[in-house]
Amino acid sequence: MAKRVIATDATEEDIRLDTGLRPQLLQDYIGQEKVKNTLKIYIEAAKARGDALDHVLFYGPPGLGKTTLACIIANEMDVNIRITSGPAIEKPGEMAAILNNLSEGDVLFVDEIHRLNRQVEEVLYPAMEDFAIDIMIGKGAAARSVRLDLPHYTLIGATTRAGMLSAPLRDRFGVVNHLDYYSEKELQTIVMRSAAVLQVEIDNRGALEIARRSRGTPRLANRMLKRVRDYAQVRYDGRITAAIASEALDLLEVDRYGLDALDRSILTLMIDKFNGGPVGLDTLAAAIGEDSGTIEDVYEPYLIKNGFLNRTPKGRVVTELAREHLSGYGRNT
Ligand code: ADE
Repeated sequence: MAKRVIATDATEEDIRLDTGLRPQLLQDYIGQEKVKNTLKIYIEAAKARGDALDHVLFYGPPGLGKTTLACIIANEMDVNIRITSGPAIEKPGEMAAILNNLSEGDVLFVDEIHRLNRQVEEVLYPAMEDFAIDIMIGKGAAARSVRLDLPHYTLIGATTRAGMLSAPLRDRFGVVNHLDYYSEKELQTIVMRSAAVLQVEIDNRGALEIARRSRGTPRLANRMLKRVRDYAQVRYDGRITAAIASEALDLLEVDRYGLDALDRSILTLMIDKFNGGPVGLDTLAAAIGEDSGTIEDVYEPYLIKNGFLNRTPKGRVVTELAREHLSGYGRNT
């Protein structure tokens, strides 16, 4: 088990909320088989050498397990994990202090690493490559740079936007893993596992109904499970069946394809205002009132993967499936 978890900012809340449901070891982690299998080898090799694991980058849409995997790596390596995020570190000195406080082998997890500012990022270059930081001492003509050695540690970066990482930062990660959406079957297993942890009674078909509607994302599946549990408890006898899950999820406005209200409003707006496209990302973002990065990283990947949206050189276009689904929406969700 990881010796200690130290969280420096808002992520602490997320970690605490999810603690019970997060798997602690690779063997309990469901899905992402390729990532798991390669990590297992690298962890075993690093442990056998008595060395820290090489720096790891996880990228992919939110809610797919980047933080969970970072915690699992610390557990498997039996080291402390320190958790922070890109926007939380404003000054190079803050990054230097965090690095300087690490112990041999520790994991430093930086969520949203693409949001580190330039000066802070530059502290990381020697810190990742040479396990050292350069500190300026004195002022004016007497100023000189002193190199401070760091323990061998593992930086784990997570980002929804790999394309926004600078090349020097990206190239310093020895292991780069892409996390993809989970299959229905995997999500069903995750829901069954979470239900057991939460001591909620659920049958296989109830778990499948939640899995189907959770956008390929374990975080959403677990969140829905909790809301469906509440519904089953108040309206029924607490046991979750497919019919009860379906009723509860209709109330949450998640449809049978796992699309939520914002997914549908993106598609509806494209059809109504832009005749289905092509429409540029920025135009779409302005029309919806969302940040274009959020649309690109959070909403689009799922819509594209499931055949509702296409990216073309001229812009985004809705598909026939999207038109059919939305014309039926309300009558046949
Ligand atoms: N809870 C959230 N994500 C999980 C996963 N991938 N495996 C098992 N439980 C989970």
